[in-house]
Amino acid sequence: MFASSGLISILIVYRSKAETSIKMVGSQSTRAEAPDLREAGLDRGPSLGFTFDGAAMRGYAGETVAAALLAAGLVALRRSPRGDAPRGAFCWMGVCQECTVVIDGHRRPACRTALAEGMTVLSGTVA
Ligand code: FES
Repeated sequence: MFASSGLISILIVYRSKAETSIKMVGSQSTRAEAPDLREAGLDRGPSLGFTFDGAAMRGYAGETVAAALLAAGLVALRRSPRGDAPRGAFCWMGVCQECTVVIDGHRRPACRTALAEGMTVLSGTVA
């Protein structure tokens, strides 16, 4: 229940801030300026630090890696092997594999991996 209500909150805020976030997607140079698209005013507990393609990011316990990245305006999580097109989370339940990233050296679906302190996340490729 918590995870789905949190996701809904993120998606609602994401939609309302879409114009500002679209500039952030896939832009390595502007990730440090990433907006926090989470609903304001909620006690989320202690934040967790992790990196995405070397950029320092913050998230919260209970979020998935994909949710934390979406909250920072990052929806492109990997490139397609054909056409080099940006790909991101689609099903949000571990089925489509569109959100595959490399977490601490292992390919994982970002939508099904709980965020943890110190994680090293790299944008994924499907070989
Ligand atoms: S979004 Fe489909 S597996 Fe993660």
